[in-house]
Amino acid sequence: MTAQTPYPHPSGQSAPSIPQKFVPRHVAVVMDGNGRWANERGLPRNEGHKAGERALLDVVAGAIEMGIPVVSAYAFSTENWKRSLDEVNFLMTFCGDVLERQLETLKSWGVRIRWAGRRPKLWKSVIRQLEVCERETAGNSVCTLVMCVNYGGRAEIADAAATIAADAAAGKIKPGQVNEKTFARYLDEPDLPDVDMFLRTSGEQRFSNFLLWQSAYAEMVFMNILWPDVDRLVLWDAVEEYAQRDRRYGGAIDSVSKPKV
Ligand code: IPE
Ligand code: IPE
Ligand code: MG
Repeated sequence: MTAQTPYPHPSGQSAPSIPQKFVPRHVAVVMDGNGRWANERGLPRNEGHKAGERALLDVVAGAIEMGIPVVSAYAFSTENWKRSLDEVNFLMTFCGDVLERQLETLKSWGVRIRWAGRRPKLWKSVIRQLEVCERETAGNSVCTLVMCVNYGGRAEIADAAATIAADAAAGKIKPGQVNEKTFARYLDEPDLPDVDMFLRTSGEQRFSNFLLWQSAYAEMVFMNILWPDVDRLVLWDAVEEYAQRDRRYGGAIDSVSKPKV
């Protein structure tokens, strides 16, 4: 099945033309600010989560239009269980519902959906829906959307270490051979590229435990906008900023300026 082009942005704008080498291969998105968006309007927090569904779809549309191959969306962290029972229950139900509601659209755009996160504690209904999405979109290749649900960067790293230890005890690998490359193979999505651009909305400037290993050299872009107000234009602005960054990865080039005469 050939993929359909996503619906256009209401403004009619299309993605800015940026040379392919300056387009991030993997964008990590911390979809933050739903609760504040709702509370500012005199609404309960869950109304903000509801309003965020459209933003996620629009950002995926924008990623496709710009040729970004991988988007990781932080939907529920391993720390979000600390929230009120009402909010946790809402988020679990909502997460499964969004996936069910949007599956056909994402499928038609050629999006491959994957899940990163821990299984224990996560609602069975959500796991089932994530697995349906993974199965039904496995053949798609326009863009990969990694839904990070019950995800925590430290949990992912600790789980990888535990599996490595078990494999070493079973004689499958030699402890002395564990290096960064072998370690990365034990992470949730080992075949995906490192995060190039780490985008967080709502004005907060922190990782909150998202893709810690993969973001070691990511460019951080913080936007002072609450998630439900986000659309693809925000993503494109962020990528334009990213494209200006000088990525050095620890290297350095001597470029002494000529003394003014
Ligand atoms: C992000 O918005 C969504 C989730 C964490 C699920 P928040 O719910 O964190 O909204 P704020 O940050 O409290 O405004
Ligand atoms: C990060 O946002 C988690 C998600 C967006 C799913 P939080 O709102 O939970 O993070 P903190 O509490 O501000 O660090
Ligand atoms: Mg938040």
